[in-house]
Amino acid sequence: MSSPARLAAAALALALPGAAFAQTPPAASAPAAPAEAFALAPLPYAYEALEPVIDAQTMRIHHGKHHQGYVNNLNAAVKATPALQGKSLEAILAEVQNLPPAVRNNGGGHYNHTLFWKLMAPPGTGGQPSAALEAQIRKDFGSMDAFKEAFQAAGAQRFGSGWAWLVWTGDRLAVTSTPNQDNPLMGDAPVKGAPVIANDVWEHAYYLKHQNNRGAYLSGWWAVLNWNEANRLFDAATRKGK
Ligand SMILES: [Fe+2]
Repeated sequence: MSSPARLAAAALALALPGAAFAQTPPAASAPAAPAEAFALAPLPYAYEALEPVIDAQTMRIHHGKHHQGYVNNLNAAVKATPALQGKSLEAILAEVQNLPPAVRNNGGGHYNHTLFWKLMAPPGTGGQPSAALEAQIRKDFGSMDAFKEAFQAAGAQRFGSGWAWLVWTGDRLAVTSTPNQDNPLMGDAPVKGAPVIANDVWEHAYYLKHQNNRGAYLSGWWAVLNWNEANRLFDAATRKGK
């Protein structure tokens, strides 16, 4: 499959509920080299679109180098592990505790970053929490401010690199954080659930602008949160459980 065609196929897969992380389907005619299982989708906005909250150079390196690296390494790991071939990324993550560390780190890296790009939008364009999501946040955290405080604390208190999450556990929303590229879909995650909001607290997400001040990144990040996508994820997660 040509590169543009592969990107289009990956973008289509990402747009389809339930097929978000399916492996790229094989080409109709046999290619000279085997198709890669997973592909990096283009960002849904320009590199500079999140300024001044996140600068263009950070986005360029984060998407084009870090995320591309996770995709490349995941594809290599899948090639080296025949039992994984043809499986969706969600299925791989569910059994990651039984798989080589390269699958965990790079499979998580690909999943988490794919979510993360879609959970951000240019300042002023991300909408507002839906009535359903806001009501559930108030029920589980007391207020929107209390939720934001808990989410920022989860990110700030994560030692080293990792992620802050808002997840639907099946009967409530919970804030959690994970180390490295772990996520709440992993079979051995301490808090399992469907991601609703995710923030990358690796230094590569903020260091060029904020250096060591992770707190400034976390408090400024709400301005680029794409509530429309969080609403969609919450709606899909809660409908699934009914
Ligand atoms: Fe990252």
